[in-house]
Amino acid sequence: MLEQERNDLLMDVDAGTPMGDLLRRYWMPIGAATEFDDKDTKPMVLMGEKLVLYKDLSGSYGLIDRHCSHRHADLSYGFVEECGLRCNYHGWLFKEDGECIGQPYEDTVDPECKLREQSGINGYPVEEKSGLLWAYMGPLPAPLIPNYEPFTWKNGFAQIVMTELPCNWFQCQENSCDPVHFEWMHANWSVRLRDVGEDYVPTHVELDFEEFDHGISYKRVREDTDKNHPLWTIGRHCLWPNALYTGDHFEWRVPIDNETTLSIGWFFNRVPNDKEPYVQESVPHWFGPLYEEDSDRWISTHVMNQDFIAWVGQGARSDRTKEHLGRSDRGIAMIRKRFLDDIKAIERGEDPKAIVRDEKDNQCIKFPLIGSDLMINGYPREMLSEDSPISRSTRQFIFQAGQPPHVTKAYEDAMGFITDKGGLTGGG
Ligand code: FES
Ligand SMILES: [Fe+2]
Repeated sequence: MLEQERNDLLMDVDAGTPMGDLLRRYWMPIGAATEFDDKDTKPMVLMGEKLVLYKDLSGSYGLIDRHCSHRHADLSYGFVEECGLRCNYHGWLFKEDGECIGQPYEDTVDPECKLREQSGINGYPVEEKSGLLWAYMGPLPAPLIPNYEPFTWKNGFAQIVMTELPCNWFQCQENSCDPVHFEWMHANWSVRLRDVGEDYVPTHVELDFEEFDHGISYKRVREDTDKNHPLWTIGRHCLWPNALYTGDHFEWRVPIDNETTLSIGWFFNRVPNDKEPYVQESVPHWFGPLYEEDSDRWISTHVMNQDFIAWVGQGARSDRTKEHLGRSDRGIAMIRKRFLDDIKAIERGEDPKAIVRDEKDNQCIKFPLIGSDLMINGYPREMLSEDSPISRSTRQFIFQAGQPPHVTKAYEDAMGFITDKGGLTGGG
């Protein structure tokens, strides 16, 4: 149980709040490069700030305040130039750091005027990496975007899935260090969704949590596994500060505001050996729906959709003053403690956990992963296309409902086989 004040401290992300300032020290994935194949501006709210993300005619990205400093028109309706984004109301032009570099009428009638110098707006660095667009909203100099091992893998098909969730980011992230929910929310719920007569899956009998440089690993023994099983020897990883990293995908929980979260996932499938070498031209993106068609019930057929039901079900802002933590929640307590400690670290002028500043350390950020053999060496097509434990996540997209047909088709072309359709059946 947490005091109300501490609960709010962990959830609030506006600029100037302790957690808002802490999270601004990290690069956040905020979109997909392919979103800009057919548009050049995207209105966004990030950590409570109203912004516009754009790609200018030179191909550079910018993330600047949504409202023009002249008379506050919405810059997401502006138009891009060779350098920067121009307001569509009176033509003021802003570049990616927020500097105002053009005020057509003022520049004409009074070229010496100092108005431009007073008209800058906020502008934040944006970079593209592995098909994702990343933003950094903290103090400069910015650290590096962590080059996690999957971003270095070859011969794979990646896709990006985004969904806006009506709840605070922190309860989503607590789920990244919650092993027992796999048994109930994914495996057993799926059992019940299939057939009430089926037995429940083997239960958890032991858990462990270990902090490492880039997060917290959780390890488990179930009735059907022992301490030689990779779920114990390797485990899975809650990645710092706001992601889950299971080996074949990342799920980030990016705060939009104090009651809304952008779930953004990056998913990787290694193509079968006979399709190599395979080079993906661009990483497709799509937006995952939340509701069943013509219904106000939430989709429950896919892994992350099930998670969403839990997170949003906790309320727009989970009330931790009323919770009852048990021994399964040790990872949750570790996450909270580390954030609270890091708030103090930045007050002392130190970097918080998992900031990467040295290029040498960022060649390839690697730690043990369940299933990395498949990702690094690839497998024959039969193992990925026919019924097997490995093919569970290769024969169909199990993580979120709503994969559009053009992405399914691109995936099938890459893999060289036709996928199953229909959703999830398990959990682990
Ligand atoms: S409001 Fe943007 S140029 Fe006038
Ligand atoms: Fe989950």
